[in-house]
Amino acid sequence: MHNNVKINRVRLPGESGLYSLSIKKGIIDNIEAFDPTIADKSTFIDVLDAEGGVVLPPFVDSHIHYDSAYTAGESRWNTSGTLLEGIKCNNDRQGIATESDYLSRAKKAIQGQVLNGVQYARVHVDVSQESLLALKVMLKLKEEVKHLINIQVVAFPQMGITSHPKQYELLELAVQLGVDGIGGVPHLEMTREGGVRSIHQIFDLAEQYNKFIDIHCDETDDDQSRFVEVVAAQAIIRNMGSVTSVSHITALHSYNNAYASKVISLIKQAKMSVVSNPLSNVILQGRFDNYPVRRGITRIKSLMSEGINVSLGQDNLADAFYPLGTGSMFPALNMALHLCHLLGSKDIDSSIDMITYNGAKTLSINPEEYGVEVGKPANLIIMQDPNVYECVRNQSPVRFNIRHGQLLAENLPLKSNIFSKI
Ligand code: FE2
Repeated sequence: MHNNVKINRVRLPGESGLYSLSIKKGIIDNIEAFDPTIADKSTFIDVLDAEGGVVLPPFVDSHIHYDSAYTAGESRWNTSGTLLEGIKCNNDRQGIATESDYLSRAKKAIQGQVLNGVQYARVHVDVSQESLLALKVMLKLKEEVKHLINIQVVAFPQMGITSHPKQYELLELAVQLGVDGIGGVPHLEMTREGGVRSIHQIFDLAEQYNKFIDIHCDETDDDQSRFVEVVAAQAIIRNMGSVTSVSHITALHSYNNAYASKVISLIKQAKMSVVSNPLSNVILQGRFDNYPVRRGITRIKSLMSEGINVSLGQDNLADAFYPLGTGSMFPALNMALHLCHLLGSKDIDSSIDMITYNGAKTLSINPEEYGVEVGKPANLIIMQDPNVYECVRNQSPVRFNIRHGQLLAENLPLKSNIFSKI
């Protein structure tokens, strides 16, 4: 497939009828009503029949860990299902990981994403190993796969920054190796004071090296875990909200409503993004609860009703923290919609933004380059279903994944038959 392409019989979100979408030199050149008589005389080298599927901008995975992907059960299963046992299992597995091991598992994760229409991913890489092997592999891989997917690499100090003597140096070294962003885990530091100090260190490094910030923050059911306010305050004071995200923030689920309201207004004031990871958090949280068991997801509905940018991540793919996952963003979206009471018809239609436009905002993707519009790069996905509602309902496969006018991947429709009368 060349990058001069005409895609016929495609549908646009929220519009009726069929359209033709022309791509020239990798740029969307024209979108017009589909005319079968003209289509028959097309002079384009490649003509693709979308068969009535809706076109969307590529999916954005705002939070994923490639370095642990596909390690579930190696060398043992996380039998309690808790975050802390997951960290222990993960550390054990990392102890035997090699360069080729990291590489092959990360490539498998990327293959899953490409097949599922993900063209942008923010990848958190554990930098608590002295060798920084996982990070070096991911930085190299990022360049090798950029024809398939844009990867942002975040230095993720899984074991904390202030709680371990060498961790700050390792984090700074990771930053100097060329990461895009800096992370942290303030709620996992030994003390509240250590957590606050770690946030200041992250902001200092981000300012010094001109990096974005994405902190695993308050990923706990503890209603006394209150680090988002510290992150938001720093983002406001340093005017860094547009390059700051907080991931997980599950404690917000458990705060009293008065404090939750304060935190939400601080996030809004800071103009930070929130990344929710509903799949892993619904199984990692609530582990200390008897019934009723909390859902372990942040207050997506309340955040979005305040106009705060919320996007979603898969977080984990078949690892010690979450044993399932395929690369598709739909299970995460589906889980978020259920857990957050977001199944009104308007909610369902707009929910796709959490894995498209909102993700693009979280990742600071240039708005001039993201979206299905004339003049923008032809990065787009064509779904098997005709509208967003059916895509979300069916969690439908991506029919075609196209990047700069090149066909990256396709999924052929499954054929099903019932052999008796209904
Ligand atoms: Fe994570």
